[in-house]
Amino acid sequence: MTATAPVRRRLVIGNWKMHLTGAEATELVAAISAGLGELGAEVAVAPAFPALAPAAEEIERRRSPLRLVAQDVFPEPEGAFTGAVSAGMLAAAGCSHVLAGHSERRQIFGDDDRAVRRKVEAVLGAGMVPILCIGETLAERDAGNAESVVGRQLEAGAAGLPEAGLGTLVIAYEPVWAIGTGRTATPETAESMHRSVRQRFADLAGEERASRAQILYGGSANGDNAAAILAGPNVDGVLVGGASLRAESFLSICRAAG
Ligand code: PGA
Repeated sequence: MTATAPVRRRLVIGNWKMHLTGAEATELVAAISAGLGELGAEVAVAPAFPALAPAAEEIERRRSPLRLVAQDVFPEPEGAFTGAVSAGMLAAAGCSHVLAGHSERRQIFGDDDRAVRRKVEAVLGAGMVPILCIGETLAERDAGNAESVVGRQLEAGAAGLPEAGLGTLVIAYEPVWAIGTGRTATPETAESMHRSVRQRFADLAGEERASRAQILYGGSANGDNAAAILAGPNVDGVLVGGASLRAESFLSICRAAG
């Protein structure tokens, strides 16, 4: 498939997790925007909910090409759901993308495949792009089940979505054992998993859509390893946690992505 695949635009996302106040987010948006220059890749940041509006204002003020991503969403449109934030609210705050099923949401907050699917649908319903996060634990990898676990998560999140949704979905392969551990997947492991994810997605969405889908790698990506990981023909970008919290390290990953 790769020999005839269309050119996919690379996407680099900084997932700030539960870090940075609004004021700190504004500062980091300013520093990243100032250093971006003329990059071919799409670049985005995912601040915590209270920092979305200040980040959006700074992006607007600087006419920055940075895109805004939300880290999570609650799938109901509105109502008595104390503490929750809807997809419509995120779109109104300036988000273009929303993460669904990050492994920290799955492991710490109990999001199961069904909940993740509802989030994907809510994000699409609000006109944004869902980033479906999938990945195996170390025990699942050691048991030889990495591809089947990831395949199951992909199918639960994407099978039977409307065509437009299948056409815009972004997939993030993030092996749980590589997130925040400093233990990155080797470029070979990342590429082989991405190839398998793309094949699986082709079964669900057709060859054409699968060949256009952006599949990102996440898990201890940094300025030193990003270029090697991105060299994999099926690796279309990176979802960066720790290394996205400082402008210089994040920008070096953005530069590696072109
Ligand atoms: P990490 O996080 O880069 O700190 O491993 C990646 C992620 O959780 O998206």
